[in-house]
Amino acid sequence: MMDVGRHPKIKTLVNSEVEEVSGFVGNFRARIRRNPRYVVAEDCTACDECARVCPVAVPDEYQQGFSSRKAIYLPFPQAVPSAYILDMENCLGSEPIACGRCAEVCEKKCIDFDDQGEVLEVPVGSIVVATGMKVYDPRMNDEYGYTRFDNVITSMEFERLICAGGPSAGHLVRPTDRRTPKRIGFVQCVGSRSATRGVPYCSNICCMNTVKQTLQIHEHYQDASTTVFYMDIRAFGKGFEDLYRRSRDNGTRYVRGLPGNVEEDPETRDLVVTVENTTTGKLEQHRLDMLVLAVGLEPHKGNGKKTVDEILNLSHTSDGFVLEAHPKLKPVDAPTRGIFFAGCVEAPKDVKDSVTQASAAAARALNLLGAGKVQVEAITAMLDTEQCIMCGVCTRVCPVNAITASNKKQKQFPSIIEAACAGCGTCAAECPTDTIAMRHFSDAQILAQVEAILAEDRMSKILTFACNWCSYAGGDMAGTSRLQYPPSVRLIRTMCSGRVDEKFIWHAFRLGAPLVLVSGCHFSDCHYIDAVTWTQKRVEKVWSRMEKLGIRPGRLQLEWISAAEGQKFARVMRELHEHLHRVTPAEVEETIRILEKQPPVPGRSKTAVAAATA
Ligand code: FES
Repeated sequence: MMDVGRHPKIKTLVNSEVEEVSGFVGNFRARIRRNPRYVVAEDCTACDECARVCPVAVPDEYQQGFSSRKAIYLPFPQAVPSAYILDMENCLGSEPIACGRCAEVCEKKCIDFDDQGEVLEVPVGSIVVATGMKVYDPRMNDEYGYTRFDNVITSMEFERLICAGGPSAGHLVRPTDRRTPKRIGFVQCVGSRSATRGVPYCSNICCMNTVKQTLQIHEHYQDASTTVFYMDIRAFGKGFEDLYRRSRDNGTRYVRGLPGNVEEDPETRDLVVTVENTTTGKLEQHRLDMLVLAVGLEPHKGNGKKTVDEILNLSHTSDGFVLEAHPKLKPVDAPTRGIFFAGCVEAPKDVKDSVTQASAAAARALNLLGAGKVQVEAITAMLDTEQCIMCGVCTRVCPVNAITASNKKQKQFPSIIEAACAGCGTCAAECPTDTIAMRHFSDAQILAQVEAILAEDRMSKILTFACNWCSYAGGDMAGTSRLQYPPSVRLIRTMCSGRVDEKFIWHAFRLGAPLVLVSGCHFSDCHYIDAVTWTQKRVEKVWSRMEKLGIRPGRLQLEWISAAEGQKFARVMRELHEHLHRVTPAEVEETIRILEKQPPVPGRSKTAVAAATA
């Protein structure tokens, strides 16, 4: 932190929040609100005179409420900048100044009750998102008595208690009587790995954090006894199994089973923990001085009014962590170019992994800036303003905000920011007037592939549109895994399933395709954030249109297949091959006859375009 604070090329804006980010890779503009600090940080020498005279005492958040701080305070000893901040919510000195003692004693005269903060507009080339995590709040499900018994604490609180810079200067004391606890228990997976209590995923760090804390206890207090209640210990990673072994060798007892009941002895304030030891199958009772809950981690989305997802248009997994552009090849890149991730915003991780990822993100950002120019995708959208009716559909569906909004009144057409365009093709597929074309990947090229596939022996073919990143790669995986599936499948690769225009599907049916499959990434995996949602909506639209026209909707299938799902790819192809036999030539001929009377995209006649633009 000190190095960062001193670095001539790093500017830190603390106590600030990003309100809005516009622009694109290499050319972002961030609007940042600097909240009032009420202390001129550049002048403050952190002499502590102000805090000494401040009459207000409130719980110190940094010390997890185990000690108090003043209304004017240093957030934590290593804070950068090393300057005090005034907590105006608790200060007595605002409007009218009722106290003002801090201002009186401040020699440097750096206290400014009228500080209004400011709004800054900062041009930036790339962005690293590192909003971190927050810990699970055990009050949500008070199964271990956290709200009822003072000697039940969280692992974060324990961390402060045993820290040399903590409220008890590193002497472990129990909250009720400030006596050193001798019998300490730890409960693992509090708020983690549970579909009903907390989050379903493993929080990654809690096991090793507990192992570390048991070692700390035994280092400080040789006569202490420690017991860990767990489901299973996950000690993967360099040296971690060794640490776990050391913890057991030091005398920590690991009991496989989570407490079923925690009670407090009202006289001694000891905790009585009942647990079923699933290794022995016996019910055990443990009398403890203190119980530490190893709470899980949750993503932290920033402190501002908008979450970081909303500000940067990021997508996230079902767990709430941000989604990277590619889990293996671009693990620190956001799908939007120029944005990178570091730390727990992407997934729960320990310090070492956070530092590794932060270094990677910094290198990726520097790489981009150092090049001085941005390489655009080969496949990008192009707009023909002649045909554009300024309906705004393209702007709405673009997952990476690469299309500026049109303005009918001012006759302002949308425009495509080529550097930001990721080339998914969703805009081209959704444009009701075919105004948008994809460079090097035009509609004509895709339609020609459809025609080539169906030119001969069409009844034996399953025409499949497969997204480049997942389904196509899933097919590759099936091949490299030597999984057998019928040879009836014919693949047309698109960058994203969002590129599959309705007219490709209708064209295929018009040419006598018995079965059409549209396949893409699972919702949380789409490389173009939420482009896949438009695929789903579009296919649903085609299904309902097919039904209205008297074409069996089952002849158009939609499947989500990931790059790792070779097995699923092969299974889907086998099932569709079965299905293929149920489509008769008469049914196909009837479809062709029906579609002959329809416009190229049934339902998208001139009236439909007018409706889309209304
Ligand atoms: Fe695969 Fe969007 S990238 S569906």
